[in-house]
Amino acid sequence: MTLEQAIEHWFAQGPAAIGNAEALAAFHWLRNDLESGTIRSASPDPAAPTGWRVNAWVKRGILLGFRIGQLDDMSGSALSFIDKATYPARRFSPEQGIRIVPGGSSVRSGAYLAKGVVVMPPAYVNAGAYVGEGTMVDSHALVGSCAQIGSRVHLSAAAQIGGVLEPVNASPVIIEDDALIGGNTGVYEGTIVRKRAVLAAGVVLTRGTPVYDLVNGTVLKASADTPLTIPENAVVVPGSRAITKGHGAEWGLSVYTPVIVKYRDEKTELSTALEDLLR
Ligand SMILES: CC(C)(COP(=O)(O)OP(=O)(O)OC[C@H]1O[C@@H](n2cnc3c(N)ncnc32)[C@H](O)[C@@H]1OP(=O)(O)O)[C@@H](O)C(=O)NCCC(=O)NCCS
Repeated sequence: MTLEQAIEHWFAQGPAAIGNAEALAAFHWLRNDLESGTIRSASPDPAAPTGWRVNAWVKRGILLGFRIGQLDDMSGSALSFIDKATYPARRFSPEQGIRIVPGGSSVRSGAYLAKGVVVMPPAYVNAGAYVGEGTMVDSHALVGSCAQIGSRVHLSAAAQIGGVLEPVNASPVIIEDDALIGGNTGVYEGTIVRKRAVLAAGVVLTRGTPVYDLVNGTVLKASADTPLTIPENAVVVPGSRAITKGHGAEWGLSVYTPVIVKYRDEKTELSTALEDLLR
């Protein structure tokens, strides 16, 4: 039986999988493969319309781990922590070349961090997340369940990358290589941010958020089967647009809207340069 078949089998068993040693073994197999990066909740696929194939069974496997896990006491010497035994915090060694800077961060089991990743405290990386080589996860950042973050990405302080577990989402958020995700941003509901795109501080993107591209004169939106996608090299800043009808117009209100003001240029390179010495 392949890993996928084993996960689908035990997920379909429902509560009958609880307490079953084979179900636990299948889950551990998945968890190990997620942590080594050999299995991902979404993988690059040039043949797919979005360039990514979502491996929906992986999310079912992660949910299986929640179903079959018993509560466990994971307390340290002073603080009390209780979670499912199937999801302890990951432990790392210097040989892995990953830095978890001391101070209140947690990387949950089933998350993958590549060599050269730096996690500044406090940050949280949830199960099923994938973080590529040399990426900086800055303070107060969240890498939600199953989120896929590329290489050399900068997730700035308080960047929130949403997950797929709750509220229930089918596709993970994907941030491609070399993107700069500014401070206090939020990227949710399966949004894809393409290579080298820049989200200025404060940009929030959800499935329902239209993005106004001033350069090309287009409005980018998610459709029934494609997520909101920020194009390669786009520089997105938080803007607003007037409400043109009803009480909103009468009261002179406007709503938040992200705007693509330009595509990366030399000035952007200067504004977003990363510091090699930190890595
Ligand atoms: C987007 C950013 C990278 C600037 O990129 P840039 O290519 O240098 O952009 P520019 O300064 O040339 O600005 C281009 C246009 O966008 C506007 N703009 C730039 N940043 C903006 C922002 N954050 N909000 C609103 N408008 C912004 C500028 O006013 C300019 O408009 P104009 O052409 O009408 O004058 C920068 O504003 C930013 O947000 N950096 C992230 C900072 C951060 O979060 N650091 C985290 C540290 S942990």
